[in-house]
Amino acid sequence: MEKDDSKAVKRLKPVVRESDSSPMREMMKMMEEHKDLLSLSAGEANFDPPEQLINLAIDAMRKDKNRYTSTNGIPEIREAVARFVYDQWGVKVDPGQNILMTVGGMEAIFLAARIVLEKGDRVLLPDPGWGVMRTVVERLGAVIDYYPLREGEQWIIDHDAILSRMNENTKLVVVNTPSNPTGATLSREGFGALLERAEKLGTFILSDEVYHNYVYEGQHVSGLSFDSLDNLIFVNSFSKAFAVTGWRLGYAIAHPWIIRQMGIFKESISLCSFSIGQWAMSEFLPVCKGYLQEAREFCRKNMEMLVEGLQAIPGVRCTPPLGGLYVFPDFSEIEPSSQELFKRLLNAGVAVAPGAFFGSQGEGRARLMFACPPERIEKGLERIRAALDR
Ligand SMILES: Cc1ncc(COP(=O)(O)O)c(C=O)c1O
Repeated sequence: MEKDDSKAVKRLKPVVRESDSSPMREMMKMMEEHKDLLSLSAGEANFDPPEQLINLAIDAMRKDKNRYTSTNGIPEIREAVARFVYDQWGVKVDPGQNILMTVGGMEAIFLAARIVLEKGDRVLLPDPGWGVMRTVVERLGAVIDYYPLREGEQWIIDHDAILSRMNENTKLVVVNTPSNPTGATLSREGFGALLERAEKLGTFILSDEVYHNYVYEGQHVSGLSFDSLDNLIFVNSFSKAFAVTGWRLGYAIAHPWIIRQMGIFKESISLCSFSIGQWAMSEFLPVCKGYLQEAREFCRKNMEMLVEGLQAIPGVRCTPPLGGLYVFPDFSEIEPSSQELFKRLLNAGVAVAPGAFFGSQGEGRARLMFACPPERIEKGLERIRAALDR
């Protein structure tokens, strides 16, 4: 988009005025112009939500649960969330004080950043990492330092890379485990060391665990399982785990004082979160284990098929992810520019997310989502092979 020189634009905050138009929007526009596209670009699961959950939502609507709720969320959902985190990670949180229901994990992230960060504060973000985090932090005027994720036989969140960059000026460290786009996870030892250092330095750790259900080796290690909320702001969401991204329902778990401040801010943004989703999820969460397991196994099979297919293409390097919904292969031997790679695959009928969206380690890469019908992956692989045939 052309930069507008009107008086109104000149009066905007400089950080907003100077930012480029969103590359994500440009990508969407290009994709709209192509017919018969196979989408492996979505940042969400493309399979069905639980049937029972949908029925519970319909019931809730018919029972006239269509009203505002309290800002923190109805007591029933907060109690269900508290039970869920206890079942998953053995930690007791107080539904009355530690939980805030939010408009997706995204609102939780925004609110946390908004109450913690001031202009000039230093924040550590992962590279590669989810681009939205960068936008939020930048627009609040904070200063970003990146810590690299490490790709060996698997992508991991290297806690030493974080620790070596933390000092008394570090206000916030963002951890995303499993990670978007690499599937990297943080080990128990790593998480422990990080929380210990955070406590010494007075740093906040924002632990974004929205992909917690998709861990393919071992168990998910949650920041919550260390049983201290002094420095931790835990963010979770129903979006990815239950394939309901459009419901916009997530939650934060943190120290009562943080939750209170986030809630006060939320009152003036969204007032409350999706009422129907809260009612439906409060009944579904206690019985969700079977669905979560099925979704995870479905994704594991797809992931293996996609990794194997990509590894078989000469010049493509694909590290199997430990978790998440995506692979982040390296195509640089064939096409070093991730934007050109995106166009080449788009012209062959496959939509992917360009690697450069995810940071400096993303050039020559693309993010491909595998939480979709396996036929789409098979067909997508055929088209990728054809597009990269040299
Ligand atoms: C790493 C990460 N965190 C948070 C979110 C937010 O998800 P939602 O707001 O739908 O819960 C996303 C969505 O793509 C994500 O990839």
